[in-house]
Amino acid sequence: MASDLPPPYTALTRHPMMPRTNHDEAARFNFLTHFNRYLSGTVGAGNKLAYEKRVLPAFRAEHGRDPEHRYEIRDGMNKDAWHRVWSALKRNSMEMRQHNGRQIVLRQLDELDAMAKQFNEHSGMLELDPSVEQPHYQTSVDIHCQPGGYHSEEREDDVTVGANYDVGLFATTGGALGGLNDGGGTAVVGWAKQERPDWEPKRILDIGCTVGHNAVPIAQAYPQAEVIAIDTAAASLRYGAARAAAMGVTNIKFVQASGEDLSRWDDGSFDWVQTTMFLHELSSKAMPRILAEANRVLAPGGLILHIEQPQYSDDMPLFEQFMRDWDAFNNNEPFWSAMHGQDLKQVMAEAGFPRESQFVAGVRAVVDPEIFPPSPDEGEEDFGRAAIWNAYGAWKPSEQAVAA
Ligand SMILES: C[S@@+](CC[C@H](N)C(=O)[O-])C[C@H]1O[C@@H](n2cnc3c(N)ncnc32)[C@H](O)[C@@H]1O
Repeated sequence: MASDLPPPYTALTRHPMMPRTNHDEAARFNFLTHFNRYLSGTVGAGNKLAYEKRVLPAFRAEHGRDPEHRYEIRDGMNKDAWHRVWSALKRNSMEMRQHNGRQIVLRQLDELDAMAKQFNEHSGMLELDPSVEQPHYQTSVDIHCQPGGYHSEEREDDVTVGANYDVGLFATTGGALGGLNDGGGTAVVGWAKQERPDWEPKRILDIGCTVGHNAVPIAQAYPQAEVIAIDTAAASLRYGAARAAAMGVTNIKFVQASGEDLSRWDDGSFDWVQTTMFLHELSSKAMPRILAEANRVLAPGGLILHIEQPQYSDDMPLFEQFMRDWDAFNNNEPFWSAMHGQDLKQVMAEAGFPRESQFVAGVRAVVDPEIFPPSPDEGEEDFGRAAIWNAYGAWKPSEQAVAA
């Protein structure tokens, strides 16, 4: 396969819970995968030209200085015809992806719900708690244009929002997360095994697991461990638990709980607390609460790890920050901009993780390179979407270290 082309939709691994696609539905996803790659690469490059040739000179002429904030660049770029067209196309690619995914899952609603029910009744890997409230910061908008967010249900015991998330993620990411959309979790495992080859965590908590794309590879890599994957959204958890059971994973439990209230778990009861692509979807009030709870339930010597796109910093050019901000203003990611602008180390320090215990490491999705060749520029063109992340983490100081 030519390395500048994304993989075909047929490269997706067909686990038993995966919704079935007919020829035309798969063709639409193929179109969108290519369209997204084209928009972020060939066409997307025009944004930089628009900035350098038109928007920046106009800004300098008007203000007598360069932009000092990404929002100043946004104001200028939003008036530029090229950028507006690119942005409209990108927004439409999200709408089309959701439209296709949604109609795929709704036409097999009965089958999907029944299959999930069967897997979940037999596996005992799903624990729902109807008293858990959906956070208003999740229900107020359809996050990344996903109809019904992660939580909506067509009827009792429904799984279709989870199924839609699974069936279409491949198109959104241009196939960069691998056949099981688990390239992030696999990368985390690779990082942990390299960092601490002999480490054997016994209990692992994944907060905001959605359908478990990235919690499952952790469970698979640490079969001696018990993984508790929590989320507030029952519809996603039902699908995730059934998907994991269908894949033959047994050491993971999908539990409905909010990261803001982990009171059902004792202090120090987990060796590893993981979040993957989760923090940027939290309100500024929820994030510190969740981090403080995570700190409480993490055992001394344990690991906390957050996988996110890189935080903005003085080292990141303002134009890149502006491009990375696109989802915040055009794709219903209300917290993206503010979250990425925060000093995450300070937020973690305030939640109880001493600065000297913290680290930042780069991780890149681990996928089968035969099927998923890297894009020619290694994904770096895809501001905010590339399968390259920063791991923001800390090893919680042991009790002796704290006492010393
Ligand atoms: C972007 S998704 C996370 C993706 C997922 N970690 C993965 O690896 O595929 C965000 C998830 O966080 C969940 N969520 C939001 N607020 C939460 C909270 N307070 N506690 C637990 N889950 C929450 C949402 O329901 C959603 O499923």
